[in-house]
Amino acid sequence: MKLCFDHFAFLARWYDRVISAPADGRLQELLAAEPGQIVLDVGGGTGRHATALSEAGARVIVCDASLAMVLWARAKGLPALVCSAVALPFASAAAERILVVDAFHHFVTPSPQAAQRQAADELLRVLDPVGRLVIEEPDIRHVGVKLIALMEKVLLMGSRFLAADELANLFATAGGRRVTIHHDDMSIRLVVGDEQLP
Ligand SMILES: C[S@@+](CC[C@H](N)C(=O)[O-])C[C@H]1O[C@@H](n2cnc3c(N)ncnc32)[C@H](O)[C@@H]1O
Repeated sequence: MKLCFDHFAFLARWYDRVISAPADGRLQELLAAEPGQIVLDVGGGTGRHATALSEAGARVIVCDASLAMVLWARAKGLPALVCSAVALPFASAAAERILVVDAFHHFVTPSPQAAQRQAADELLRVLDPVGRLVIEEPDIRHVGVKLIALMEKVLLMGSRFLAADELANLFATAGGRRVTIHHDDMSIRLVVGDEQLP
């Protein structure tokens, strides 16, 4: 069950202080964004990842459903839009790279199943056919992540965590090209697109 309330409006002020900066360059390596490329950071929040990508020369746009999170991203000088992953305000094939970090399990409106299926369709629609999509999600098999899932349930956030094979199947069924999964401690990383890119 999801409470009709933007939990991130409440968290936005503390988000960057509580959630640490990205630890390693693994995500950037997987995304392989080149200077000048259009990168959408969907569910990008305060722009925790967008900042580094932008500094590396990519044209990053943060897309997030929470106005409060978007305002924090804008305060960092990042272009940021309030929008939902289930209806992205971009033309088909508009983005060369798309990043979704720690957000896919929050795509649950109007219902978790429908929203995540629609978000998969939208992300693939907006992705350039020769582009790359990288999704990082907490690995629900990990006991620490199970505790986070429990906490989010208590807070009525409505989160729905998919296991690695479920996430891969969702994107393969939606027509994703070359779907691969990478495991890393507490996270799973799904890559859609050409694995041969640098
Ligand atoms: C845990 S935060 C992650 C933020 C950022 N990706 C990061 O790693 O710091 C999850 C974000 O997903 C956003 N979100 C939730 N549902 C969304 C939706 N349907 N479309 C776009 N963003 C959404 C929330 O507002 C929140 O900013």
